[in-house]
Amino acid sequence: MPNQINDDIKFNLLDIDRDTGIGGTELEETALKLSILHTDENNNKLITRSDLTALFEAHFKGREYSHTFRLPKWLETCDVPWCNVLRDFYKDPVTRPASLSPQQGEFIRSLIVNFNPKTVVEIGVFLGVSTLWVAGALEDANQNGKLYSLGLFKDILPKPPTRTKCVIDPYSDVSTRIKDAGLEDIVTLIKGDSKLLGSNWKNYSSDPIDVLFIDGDCTIPGCLGDFEAFREHLNEESIIVLRDIFPENCSCDGPRYLIDMLNKIGNIQIFELETSPHNFGMAVIKLKKRAKSRNSVLE
Ligand SMILES: C[S@@+](CC[C@H](N)C(=O)[O-])C[C@H]1O[C@@H](n2cnc3c(N)ncnc32)[C@H](O)[C@@H]1O
Repeated sequence: MPNQINDDIKFNLLDIDRDTGIGGTELEETALKLSILHTDENNNKLITRSDLTALFEAHFKGREYSHTFRLPKWLETCDVPWCNVLRDFYKDPVTRPASLSPQQGEFIRSLIVNFNPKTVVEIGVFLGVSTLWVAGALEDANQNGKLYSLGLFKDILPKPPTRTKCVIDPYSDVSTRIKDAGLEDIVTLIKGDSKLLGSNWKNYSSDPIDVLFIDGDCTIPGCLGDFEAFREHLNEESIIVLRDIFPENCSCDGPRYLIDMLNKIGNIQIFELETSPHNFGMAVIKLKKRAKSRNSVLE
């Protein structure tokens, strides 16, 4: 699916069927009922971008996915802007299962507030759940840390049975959420392909990257490409965080491949974590074994 910017752009129904896996004539019938089906000179059936939300609402009416993540008690009651936004957003089933779970979020948050990075890069924003966790942690660490969040920000189509609605223009959705969370001074959203952005990274920042969170294209070329594109901006102290490291559970093989490759190189610290509620797993990698501490004991 191309990265659409125009509400008038029309989607071919066959592409929608293929991308969502819905198939059959169901969508066409729904579109006809709603009077939103267009036909071009080649008899292609088309839907206007601005009608997609109504189409899927009608199509999935009565069979919406309703499973949401279980929140930790402290997040249920915490009255801080980024927590309020995160908690409200987690109530939307669209976050499950592709977004960072609250349990994974707590892990990455703990990593950030302990490690105190100045510069974090996350690859793969989706709806911005991980962005809120990382930026919220940077705010709490109060060390002027910055987060660069890279994503394609393509329209998100349903993926039944777990995602039964679409999100048109996720970039503006995520920007609003960051603003409502009061994190806009911390987060820079960058739209584009991470590998291209990484190969021109000097245009965005000249600071070394302390934490690189790779959670974008989880194929082998995607994950290796991200690592290769950003490795020259990491230093000996840097940490890489990976998600979806157990291919047997998450059907992604890139992160596992990268871990196995780095393990073979040796002289590297890798911690693998089993995760909840989906054991897709996470890993923390430090590219060089070391003894010196970044943080003074007296701080
Ligand atoms: C698993 S989701 C990320 C979830 C997000 N980190 C969270 O926890 O809320 C993966 C995201 O990576 C994005 N993505 C895939 N390939 C990409 C690429 N080459 N460059 C940037 N983003 C990419 C996808 O569009 C998708 O939104």
